[in-house]
Order: sequence, then C-alpha cells, then structure tokens
Amino acid sequence: MTRTLGRSPLLDSRLASASAHAKVILFGEHSVVYGAPAIALPVPGLSLTASARTLPGPVRIESALYSGPIADAPARLGAPATAIAETLDALHRPAADLTVRIDGSIPAGRGLGSSAAVASAISAGIAAWAGEALDEQTHFRLIQAAEAVAHGSASGLDARAVVADAPIRFRAGRVQTLPVAVPATFVIADTGVPGATREAVAAVAELLARDESGVHGIIDGIAAETQGAEQDLAAGDTPSLGRRMTRVHELLRELTVSNERLDRLVDSALGDGALGAKLTGGGRGGCIIALAESAASAELLAARLTRTGAANAWIVTAEDSTDGSAA
Ligand code: PMV
Repeated sequence: MTRTLGRSPLLDSRLASASAHAKVILFGEHSVVYGAPAIALPVPGLSLTASARTLPGPVRIESALYSGPIADAPARLGAPATAIAETLDALHRPAADLTVRIDGSIPAGRGLGSSAAVASAISAGIAAWAGEALDEQTHFRLIQAAEAVAHGSASGLDARAVVADAPIRFRAGRVQTLPVAVPATFVIADTGVPGATREAVAAVAELLARDESGVHGIIDGIAAETQGAEQDLAAGDTPSLGRRMTRVHELLRELTVSNERLDRLVDSALGDGALGAKLTGGGRGGCIIALAESAASAELLAARLTRTGAANAWIVTAEDSTDGSAA
C-alpha cells in the first residue's frame, strides 16, 4: 500500500506526502529469479513516509542518514537519489526547488524491502507534490530504477510487494492477489545481521551453472512447494502451509543461502511451537519467518524468539485485503 496522504493547502500549497510499507517473502526467494512463482506479504506495521515540499535551490534530501543536496549525498543514498531524479524526469519537472524528507524507517538489509519502500514513497510523494497521478507501471518502473542501484538486477518482487494491500503471487514479472481463506499469523524474526542478497543470488547462479548436486531439482522443489502453499492459503490449511515452509528452508539451505544464525532461529521457532519456519529474502543474514498456530500464540512466539537470540521480531497477518482493493 502506498498511501498518498495528499497536499496540505493550509500549510503549504506545495507539500505532499506518500507512505509505503515493508514486505516479507513467504515462498519463492531465489527460485523466483529463475521464473518460478513467489508469494509475498505486505507488512503494514513497518512503514515510512516521504514528504516533498518546495524549497528554492538544489534538490535536497532529509533523512536520518544525511540531510543536504542530493548531489553531495553519500553513495549509500544512491537509490533514493535515483528515485528522486528519475521521478522528476518522468514528470518532466526540473531538478530544482524540491526537498524530500524521509520519516520512519524499515530496517535495512533484512529482506524487508526497505529500499523498494523508500523508492515507492519518494516517487508517489513527488508525484503528489507535482499534482500528477503516477500510473502503476510508471510507479513500478521508478521503483525498479532505484532497486537497480541498490541491489543490481532485481526480479521486481519487492517493487510489487511494497505497494500491495494483500498477499501477492509474483511470477516472471506478473503479479496477482492471492485469496486467503483463513487469516494466517506469522512472526518475522531478525538475526540482527544484514543479509547478503547479492552474494547469495550470485552463489545460486554459480551452483546452477555447474549444476552440481541437482540444483535445478532444488529450484523445481521450491516451485512445487510454492504452488502447494497457494492452495493451502486458499483452503485455510495452515498445518500444511507450515510444513512446506520448513521443507523450503531445507531446500534453501541446500542452495547455500542460509547460515548458522538463520538455522538457529528456525530451530528455535519450531521448538517454540511454530507450525513451520524458514529464512526469508536473499538470506545469509536478515530474517526468518515462522507460522504461528494462532494470532494469540504469535505474541508468545515473538517474545520467545527475542529472548533466545532474535534482535527484533514483528507480527504480520496474511489475509484478504480489508478494503477489497486489488494488490
Ligand atoms: O533480500 P530481498 O528481500 O531483497 O529478497 C531477494 C529475493 C531474491 O529472490 C533472492 C532476489 C530477487 O530479486 O527476487
């Protein structure tokens, strides 16, 4: 969901904001790169806002990391700087007299879509400031332009998921909303260590190129579990969904994208009564996602995971969009 908060004529006729939320991959990380389907959930509890306002002078960015002209911004702000420049270009606006402020944050490098969410909020916020509507395709293209700077080539899954209002299925660039019969509650637990998506994607590509240990078979196995998971969500079969998560974690381990911390958190979650657990996102750090038996037990599971080593934990529910809108 990228909510355009609108302009504030009473304060400043040239001020507008938009927000975007985090995402979590439920199934299909890595295999999605090779055309397999993936399932991602919006995480509305973790969000940020980009506010665009007129300020004479060079284009500026204000954030917890840096405030000043984007021309002088540190390299790590390359992705937001790209989102600003590309959006102004798409709207045929001069690159001047604009300040973009980012409030709130989504932990970076944890597979939660922070870079895509920043780019989403920036482009929607600038469009609202310019009084223009951003069509879905242009919005996606602008987020992907920033993602290319942040991560190299990205499948587009994050760019779609951070603007979704409901669980989505993503395959080969196409996105659709997934029906969910019974709300399912998950705990996302953070190892506290940034993930290494780029390296992990490169490692899988290398394994595939050599095709040692039947890597194609592993990708096919993840794809089959993802398809099964779609049916489980549609049928409300949470025990089956959980078993698939744990099986996929094993397959991701075989792809060499897990690590000890992720494995430990998965084991803790399973020991604490989760119906299933797996790493989420690129891996080699970042987070796991565990399926709780119920909404009430999710709180307990999150508390236990933070006691036994998670740096942080968040609860997210997969359910049909409450406002009835499509992803
Ligand atoms: O680490 P994240 O959340 O950006 O997810 C990466 C997902 C991959 O499938 C590994 C790569 C991609 O571009 O889809």
